[in-house]
Amino acid sequence: MSKVFIIGATGGVGSRLGPMLVEAGHGVTGLHRRPDQADKLLSAGITPWLGDIMFMSVAELAVATRDCDVVVFTAGAAGSGPERTTAIDGEGVIKTVHAARANGIARVYLVSAFMDAGRAQPRKDGFEHYMKVKRQADNALAQSELDWVILRPGTLVSEDGNGRVNAGLAISYGSVARGNVARMLAALIDTPAIRREIIELTDGDILVPDAVMSLQR
Ligand SMILES: NC(=O)c1ccc[n+]([C@@H]2O[C@H](COP(=O)([O-])OP(=O)(O)OC[C@H]3O[C@@H](n4cnc5c(N)ncnc54)[C@H](OP(=O)(O)O)[C@@H]3O)[C@@H](O)[C@H]2O)c1
Repeated sequence: MSKVFIIGATGGVGSRLGPMLVEAGHGVTGLHRRPDQADKLLSAGITPWLGDIMFMSVAELAVATRDCDVVVFTAGAAGSGPERTTAIDGEGVIKTVHAARANGIARVYLVSAFMDAGRAQPRKDGFEHYMKVKRQADNALAQSELDWVILRPGTLVSEDGNGRVNAGLAISYGSVARGNVARMLAALIDTPAIRREIIELTDGDILVPDAVMSLQR
């Protein structure tokens, strides 16, 4: 069983992922930025760690993740402005990579974005910046020597989902339930042979365990 640190533990994906990992027997620590979020994490069996990724140094993040062997990054600025997008979705990932390396943590799972997202809509500066930052964060992680997995979900919908997905190296764009993203992350964490892969994800017809099995080389 692994010790997993979730950055974004209180979010739509992260709050579903944490209990799944606990249920599977993993030890889970969740980063949260408001003290009042601790009780909910604790009641789900997750150890809370108070901190704001915007202001945490690499050294502080290394202390937070010190006993872990897996880090999941599923935090995001959620449209709160370009500066916060850069600081959270961009620099937050880069700090995570440095902290993982400092601790000898090989396995980092990053929730990125599907690069075809929003192409059918008129361009907006904030969204273009978000996609650029996501791409830069992916590049930084992919260039590291870590055993990373970058998951690129389509547009997220706030549902638990039915556990059926379409996952592959290059698939058609679509939406995906946040619960299905969490299931996919949980299954990937239990399949360490899948490493150094960028995986696109939408809702689909394939049960998550079968989808993950089909991704093994
Ligand atoms: N929206 C989409 O359609 C879409 C599509 C593809 C990929 N994604 C990406 O998927 C990931 C997960 O999305 P989601 O919908 O689960 O996100 P979400 O519900 O907005 O949750 C974001 C998480 O990040 C945390 N967070 C935000 N700022 C933080 C900070 N400064 N320090 C520490 N934690 C911070 C939030 O904490 P609080 O609970 O305190 O806010 C929350 O736990 C994100 O990276 C997002 O960019 C989104």
